[in-house]
Amino acid sequence: MPHEKFDVSRLERLNDPARLEYLDPRAIWSAADVRDPRTVVEIGAGTGMFASRFAEMAPDADVYAVDVEPVMVRWMLENRPPSLCERLHPTLSRESAVPLPTGEADVVIMINVHHELADPVSTYREALRLLRIGGTVVIVDWRPGDVSGGPSQHVRATAEQISEVLARVGFDTIAEHGDLPHHTMLTACKPAICGL
Ligand SMILES: C[S@@+](CC[C@H](N)C(=O)[O-])C[C@H]1O[C@@H](n2cnc3c(N)ncnc32)[C@H](O)[C@@H]1O
Repeated sequence: MPHEKFDVSRLERLNDPARLEYLDPRAIWSAADVRDPRTVVEIGAGTGMFASRFAEMAPDADVYAVDVEPVMVRWMLENRPPSLCERLHPTLSRESAVPLPTGEADVVIMINVHHELADPVSTYREALRLLRIGGTVVIVDWRPGDVSGGPSQHVRATAEQISEVLARVGFDTIAEHGDLPHHTMLTACKPAICGL
C-alpha cells in the first residue's frame, strides 16, 4: 500500500492554528455525533492539537491521544494543557496495535492518518476492536486532487476507497460528510455482530 509517514522534524507545523480554520474540530465532532462520551480515542494524534479540543468538547471523557512516534507522545506529555492532564492520555502504539481495551471507546477519530497507514485493513480492524457496539469511527484525510497542501497525491485515497476498506473490516452505516473544504470526512459504526 503506498503510504507516507509524517516527518517528525516538522512537528511544530502540526500546531499551526491556521489549520483549525479548514479542519474545524467542531465540524469533526459534530460528524461523530456522540452524546456524553466517556472514552475518546484519536489514532495518529501527532501533537494532540485536535485531541485537546475533543477533550474540551467532551468534559466527562478520557481522551487517548495515540501515536506510533515516541517523539510525538513525549511532546504531548510535556506540552498538554495542565487543565487536561488528568483526562488527556498520550499513548504510544505500534502500527496496528493500540494498547487499550476492547469495546470501550465511544468514538475513534483519525485525522490525516489514512495516507500514512502501511496496512489500512489492520488499522481499521484495530479501530473496530477498540469501539463499543454502536460506537463511531471518524476518518478525515486530504482529498485526492486538492492542491492546497498535504501529502503526495499518489498516497491519497478517495472516499470510495476508504469506504471499501471500512466495509471490508466490518463497519456499517458508512457515511460521507461534506463539511470540510479540502478533506474527505467519513463516519462508520460498529455493528452488533462483527466478530469483535
Ligand atoms: C500528519 S500527522 C497528523 C497528526 C494529527 N492527527 C493532526 O492532524 O494534527 C499523522 C500522525 O499519525 C501518526 N501515525 C502514522 N501511522 C500511524 C499508526 N498506524 N498508528 C498511530 N499513529 C500513526 C504519525 O506518527 C503522525 O504523528
